[in-house]
Amino acid sequence: MKIGVCSDHAGLEYKSRTISYLLGKGYEIVNYGTDSPESCDYPDYAHALATAVEKGEVDLGIAYCGTGNGMAITLNHHRGIRAGLAWNSEIGRLVKEHNNANVLVMPARFISWRMAQSIIRTWLNTPFAGGRHQRRIDKIPL
Ligand code: RB5
Repeated sequence: MKIGVCSDHAGLEYKSRTISYLLGKGYEIVNYGTDSPESCDYPDYAHALATAVEKGEVDLGIAYCGTGNGMAITLNHHRGIRAGLAWNSEIGRLVKEHNNANVLVMPARFISWRMAQSIIRTWLNTPFAGGRHQRRIDKIPL
């Protein structure tokens, strides 16, 4: 499985750790930046990741910014993206099981790295439940 990752400066450290963590688990990773600690604009990286997921260049995405909101708001402007914000493992499970999020977004300034790892692990290992949740997802596009 190929996973795309992105962050702004606030999420850079957790993005770098995510790359090592997932490479160690045998995932293929594509990094859409940023790769600098300089202050930057999260939409530049969110759009790059979203486009890659929509084109099927990667199977899933993981994004970080300070609160997670800038990334989630931008990613969800893309029709093919369901970006879900998670700050604990239970939400990480539900964002896949109920919302089938194809991009996981985390608030790097508000969770520990240990928590981020647990959220990633849970989200990747949880299957989408389908059924009534698919019906609800089908009603999202305008
Ligand atoms: C950067 O300071 C911060 O605004 C950004 O990382 C994010 O939290 C925006 O939603």
